[in-house]
Amino acid sequence: MVVKVYKDAETIGKAAAAMFAARVLEKPDCVLGLATGSTPIPTYNAMINYFKEGTVDYSKVTTFNLDEYVGLTHEHDQSYYYFMHDNLFNSINVPEESIHVLCGTADDLEAECAQYEAAIEAAGGVDLQILGIGHNGHIAFNEPADTFAAKTHVVSLTARTIEANTRFFASSADVPRQAVTMGIGTIMKSKAIVLVATGAGKAQAVHDMIYGEIDPKCPASILQLHPNVTIICDKDAASML
Ligand code: GLP
Repeated sequence: MVVKVYKDAETIGKAAAAMFAARVLEKPDCVLGLATGSTPIPTYNAMINYFKEGTVDYSKVTTFNLDEYVGLTHEHDQSYYYFMHDNLFNSINVPEESIHVLCGTADDLEAECAQYEAAIEAAGGVDLQILGIGHNGHIAFNEPADTFAAKTHVVSLTARTIEANTRFFASSADVPRQAVTMGIGTIMKSKAIVLVATGAGKAQAVHDMIYGEIDPKCPASILQLHPNVTIICDKDAASML
C-alpha cells in the first residue's frame, strides 16, 4: 500500500483524478471503476476539468460503478445512477452505453448481480478502481461480516451505514435497507485501486484498514493483500496512523 497525505479534499481530488487521467491517456479504452459518497466528488470535478480543458477524452472508456440502493429508480435523486450522472457523466463524454450501474429495481436482483459480474469480466476487468471508505470500514456496500463476499451480491445495510447516509434523505426511514454491491473479490480483481478518505470520522477505519488484522469485520483491511493500492487522505483521516 502507498499512503499519501494531502492538505485538503480538493488536493486529494486532483491527485486521484491525475491517476485516472494518466490511465485514460495511456489506455483510451480502459475500464474505470467508480464510487459514490461525498469523498470522490472533488475527484470527479477534477476529471471534468481535464475533459473541459481538452486534456482527457473519455469517449472510449467503459465504467462500472460499485453499488446501488435496492428499490431506487434511476430518476430518484439519491440513486447512485442519478448521483453519477449529476456529478460526472453529464459533464464528460463517456457514451451512455459504456456506463454500467447496477439496477436496484431489477425484478431478479440475483440475476442482475450475476450479469454485472459477467459484464465486468467480459470488459476485461477494471483497470483503475476508486473507493471511499465507510466509518465502519465498509468498501462499496460490503459491510462488516463474518466472511469476505466474493462476488456482486445483495446486502442488508447496517444501522451505522443507514445512519451515516440519512443525511442525504428526508429521514432515516427513507434510507433503503438493502443494496446491490460488487463483492470484495470483484473489487480485489481490479488492477489498481485508489482509496480516498477525508475527515476525523474516517481515522479509525483508515487505521484499521492499514494496520489492523485482515478481517471481514473491517472489509477494507483486505486491501493489504492487493498489490497496487494507493490511499490518499487528509491529515484528519490519517491522524491515527
Ligand atoms: C456509501 C457508499 C460507499 C462510500 C461510503 C462513504 O456507503 N456505498 O461506497 O465509500 O458511502 O461515503 P462518504 O464518502 O460520503 O463518506
